[in-house]
This record gives sequence, structure tokens and C-alpha cells, in this order.
Amino acid sequence: MNLILLGPPGAGKGTQAKRLEQSHGLVQLATGDMLRAATARGSELGLKVKAIMDSGQLVPDGVIIDMIAERIARPDCRNGFILDGFPRTVPQAEALDEMLAERRQTLDHVILMQVDEAALIDRLAGRFSCKNCGASYHERYHRPQAEGVCDLCGGCEFVHRPDDRPEAVEARFEVYRRQTAPILPYYRDRGILRTVDGMGEIDEVARQIEAIVASAK
Ligand code: AP5
Repeated sequence: MNLILLGPPGAGKGTQAKRLEQSHGLVQLATGDMLRAATARGSELGLKVKAIMDSGQLVPDGVIIDMIAERIARPDCRNGFILDGFPRTVPQAEALDEMLAERRQTLDHVILMQVDEAALIDRLAGRFSCKNCGASYHERYHRPQAEGVCDLCGGCEFVHRPDDRPEAVEARFEVYRRQTAPILPYYRDRGILRTVDGMGEIDEVARQIEAIVASAK
């Protein structure tokens, strides 16, 4: 099964993708995490994209499309994947279609997480992530079960993202409205766009997504 999780910054895409990865054995393909890993390694790609990401703007389509094409071709993606943060523009959505057609794969669902922007500012301001595996936590809504230890990988170092500063968050919302929201009709017209209420508690949102995933079996 191949899924896309769509929604504005802070909608909960990463949180829910990690759950699906654990519950269904799907591979999470999170373009933001891949780019942050490249930045942390100090690779050429990482150095090229760091300032763009910190300002809340999008990395050029060509860079992202090449990165996803290489990742999707790996054997672990054969049993299904969750795209988290990709596609974010119409050219990216078109490129994804071409990649999938070449591989004789299809998209089962595109799940839009509908949220209230004002609440997202609070979510992003309180977010911290595991430095090792990227799992997202929140100071009030989602703390690790054992204080200071990542639930998923046992990592003990956590970081705040530079693009969660208020000025970058505002830019990211604007980019979402202008460049990413236009891909919604692309999937709605094909009848594969499903919507969940992303404002519920994390477990409740997971239940809604589970119901959609179950309907694809
Ligand atoms: P990326 O890392 O993809 O960031 P984003 O899309 O802005 O999404 P976030 O990771 O901020 O939010 P999320 O929806 O995953 O929420 P989360 O689960 O963490 O991209 C970063 C940058 O990389 C981009 O700005 C761009 O520069 C570049 N980039 C990436 N992909 C690109 C592409 N395709 N093209 C071009 N450029 C690209 O949750 C947020 C917080 O809320 C957490 O603290 C969490 O614990 C909490 N939370 C989650 N769900 C709930 C809930 N239901 N109730 C209460 N709290 C919740």
C-alpha cells in the first residue's frame, strides 16, 4: 500500500507516518527528515539546502524529485511506503506519477490532515524531535514515555528545528497555501483524496487514518 500524508506544517504528518510505519510495516519517506539528515552530515546537498529550509521556503523541485526517485527505487519500498512532505508542488505530483508508472505502482490514498492554522503555531512552538531518528514530540501533547528517552529508538538527544521560529513558521504556512494547496484538486479529481480531522488527539487522528487504510485492503 502506498500513501501520501498531506497537510500544512505541524498538521501531524510525521507523527502519524511513524505510527503507520510501526503498525503496517510501511516505509516512511519524509523529505524534510532526509534533507535535515543531509544537513547534519554536512554533505554538498545539505549545505545547499540549509538556508532555504531555515527560511521556510521550498527546496527546488529537481533536487527533491531526484532524492525521492532514488529512495523509492530501493528494495525496502516494494512493500509500500508513506510519503510525508512530498509532493509539495504540482510538478512534484506529476513527477511522482511518472515514477510510479515506471515501476508499475499506484497510489492507494492521499490523506489530507485538516487543521486550524492558529493551533499549529502552538504545536510547532512546543515541538522537539529525536536527534537520532527524527521522531516528533511536544512539550505538552506528546512527551516521551520515559522522560528524556525517545520511545522509538532509545535516543537521548533532542533538538528544536530552526524553522519552527515564528517568522519561519509564517513563511511555511504561506508557502503551503500558495504552492502545496494547489495539488489538492489534482488528487480530488482522481477520487483518491481522503480527509481526516487533524485537530483531534493523536490517538483519535490515528484511528481515522486506520479506518481509511483498512478500507484499502
Ligand atoms: P518538513 O520536515 O516536511 O516540514 P513540514 O511539512 O513543515 O511539516 P512538519 O514536519 O513541520 O510537521 P508535521 O505535519 O510532520 O507535524 P508533526 O507530526 O511533527 O519540511 C521542512 C522543510 O524541508 C520545508 O520547509 C522545505 O524547506 C523542505 N522540504 C521538505 N520537503 C520538501 C519538498 N517536497 N519540496 C520542497 N522542499 C521540501 O507534529 C508537529 C507537532 O505537533 C509535534 O510536536 C507533535 O508532537 C505535535 N502533534 C502532532 N499531532 C498532534 C495532535 N493531533 N494533537 C496535538 N499535538 C500534535
